[in-house]
Amino acid sequence: MAGKLDEKVAIVTGASSGIGEATAIALAAEGAQIVIAARRADRLDAVAKRIEAIGGKVLPIITDITDEAQVESLVQKTNAKLGQVDILVNNAGIGVLGTIDTGNPADWRQAFDVNVLGVLYATHAVLPLLKAQKSGHIVNISSVAGRTARAGVGVYNATKWGVNALSEALRQEVYKDNIRITIIEPGLVDTEFSDLISDPIAKQRSEERRKTITPLQSEDIANAIVYAVTQPQHVNVNEILIRPTSQDN
Ligand SMILES: NC(=O)c1ccc[n+]([C@@H]2O[C@H](COP(=O)([O-])OP(=O)(O)OC[C@H]3O[C@@H](n4cnc5c(N)ncnc54)[C@H](OP(=O)(O)O)[C@@H]3O)[C@@H](O)[C@H]2O)c1
Repeated sequence: MAGKLDEKVAIVTGASSGIGEATAIALAAEGAQIVIAARRADRLDAVAKRIEAIGGKVLPIITDITDEAQVESLVQKTNAKLGQVDILVNNAGIGVLGTIDTGNPADWRQAFDVNVLGVLYATHAVLPLLKAQKSGHIVNISSVAGRTARAGVGVYNATKWGVNALSEALRQEVYKDNIRITIIEPGLVDTEFSDLISDPIAKQRSEERRKTITPLQSEDIANAIVYAVTQPQHVNVNEILIRPTSQDN
């Protein structure tokens, strides 16, 4: 059966787990050839096997999104091996939680490097290709935290606010080249994301909060991404904000 993304090539960053993994599989199920990028080789291989098991074509490329040269190489290798890039899902991201007075600036730098500069590096690398072919779609994974600030979340809020701002500016810069930009803003999703919270008070707060919320699953977000990238060319889904029904803010 024909998929809605046959003949398309998609790069998904942070595809070794969680939302990125589910998105890579969902795009492959619609027929796209998928390049999966992240740092953990063993996890990328496991995702590649899942994609191959549904008959998909996949190319894992180990990439640290904070390294501009590696990101440029990711895009160039994709173009060389698969001939084009149609969709970029800027999904790689990390959390940084804790109040600003107790925060560690090294953690802040890493969060901005991954969540903001990583998005910029990948976008900058694909834009010449998308502009030359006069089509393409960039999906940036932001967060409810890009729309609503909360105590103890300020630095993460700032990174995702940044993603929203650069996405809207980019949309205005490239719409005349027929390039679409979508921001996805999930609420709480059941992934490994919050396992990586280092601040003990923030971790406890997060665990308490999780008891009151039935979280989204990665596939819920992947479905939203598939929706956005399979609309007719004249439709640009600019923003999708998705909370669990039981999430307050
Ligand atoms: N889970 C939530 O509640 C939630 C809510 C809203 C938004 N989000 C956003 O959703 C996105 C995906 O997160 P997730 O929930 O799916 O968490 P996750 O399972 O922890 O996935 C994060 C992904 O980012 C990758 N990554 C981290 N640092 C990287 C680096 N330096 N270079 C390349 N890849 C890197 C990780 O791969 P490697 O470690 O293998 O490199 C992993 O594949 C993030 O942007 C996050 O901010 C999550």
